Amino acid sequence: MKRIAILISGGGSNMMALLRDMAGDHPARPVLVASNDPAAAGLARAEAAGVATLALDHRGYGTRAAFESDLARALHDVRPDIIALAGFMRILSPEFVGQFAGKMLNIHPSLLPKYPGLHTHARAIAAGDTEAGCTVHEVTADLDAGPILGQARVTIEAGETEASLAAKVLVQEHRLYPAVLRAFASGDRQPIFLTE
Ligand code: GRF
Repeated sequence: MKRIAILISGGGSNMMALLRDMAGDHPARPVLVASNDPAAAGLARAEAAGVATLALDHRGYGTRAAFESDLARALHDVRPDIIALAGFMRILSPEFVGQFAGKMLNIHPSLLPKYPGLHTHARAIAAGDTEAGCTVHEVTADLDAGPILGQARVTIEAGETEASLAAKVLVQEHRLYPAVLRAFASGDRQPIFLTE
């Protein structure tokens, strides 16, 4: 049974999708949900789901290294086989990522390698793209650039707004991430491609 730690910064809708999938017959189970924001609504949702939680307020640390040191220690303490970043909004240093090489996943709301970084939906619409989506990838030292484990595509329609596109993509995130985590926890590295 693989041990999964999930890192969040906000509402945790992706985290909830992962927890719901792991509640059934699944090769993994959650051992910790941690957030850099004590006010993250996802923490209460994780507690309600019976998962151990931890809040480490990154604003309470003088340096990024000090925050990452406490976060790394908390993660090592639960011996995770996999760490899933789910709406986690802090950039992690190469030193931190290196401690968990090959076992850290992230979901990014674009069809990487297009639109790494922020404001992905606005950028896709502004570029006149006809499709958008989300990507689950292994986390490496380079931001939003690790090996792709899965993607889900949606169409960008006439009159699409950033909000309407974000909502469409979020629905696909909640399909894609559980499918990729289930495969990854089973040792399956075959990328998964979904369409809406
Ligand atoms: C969403 O915009 C999603 O695209 C990205 O993080 C944001 C919050 O996700 N992955 P969540 O609801 O906290 O999982």
